[in-house]
Amino acid sequence: MTLPRDARIVILTGAGISAESGLRTFRAADGLWEDHRVEDVATPEAFGRNPELVYRFYNERRRSLAAVQLNAAHLALARLEKEWPGELLLVTQNVDDLHDRAGSRNLLHMHGELLKGRCLGCGAVADWPDDMDGHSRCPTCTRGLVRPHIVWFGELPLGLERIYAALECCNLFVAIGTSGHVYPAAGFVEAVGPRARTVELNLEPSRVVDAFQEHRVGRATDLVPALVAELLGGPAF
Ligand code: APR
Repeated sequence: MTLPRDARIVILTGAGISAESGLRTFRAADGLWEDHRVEDVATPEAFGRNPELVYRFYNERRRSLAAVQLNAAHLALARLEKEWPGELLLVTQNVDDLHDRAGSRNLLHMHGELLKGRCLGCGAVADWPDDMDGHSRCPTCTRGLVRPHIVWFGELPLGLERIYAALECCNLFVAIGTSGHVYPAAGFVEAVGPRARTVELNLEPSRVVDAFQEHRVGRATDLVPALVAELLGGPAF
């Protein structure tokens, strides 16, 4: 694929890009997420009902990040950002830090970040690499209780204004490793401007594959470096 060098690119990633790093995707056949029902751990109601369980669940997820390594797909996207002369926005639904570790900087975590906490009082967001519990206080206001900086079901994703503005004027939209079950991200492909090319890279066709002009089926660690090499006009690395 070739594009003008000033083309604007928006990339959306989902759990599939981190699967080969050893992080489980969400929509497994049993419908459970790491042995929990989503409504028991990933809703504001769950946090209100049983904060200890929710804190523990995200503490486990946060700790598990230490054991995983980024993969060739994360690295390829960081390389693309560095070498692409036009604008590039990477939007991820993932709450892991693998894109950050790979070096992506123009990066928006629309569903929040495991390694951050948010104050229930003043709303400040702070780095939070350690465990969190009902005694965790906000480092900014020093009084408020801190919750995981995660967008739970029923809450508004982060950065939507910036994302839709970028989609509207992009020349290429690529979705990688996302099943197309969760909105608004699943609808981004419909929000691109009339001149944009749209490509899906996934292990299997997603639920919204028909909305894309092109789809490539395979593993992210194969497909993403190949696409990046095509765009940059050189060999895969
Ligand atoms: N390479 C490419 N794609 C893969 C790979 C891989 N190695 N492994 C799995 N996939 C694909 C799966 O086929 C699936 O279509 O990645 C997709 C992952 O889908 P989900 O588990 O539904 O994850 P995602 O789309 O990111 O979920 C969206 O749902 O639960 C919420 O907030 C959570 O951000 C999450 C959102």
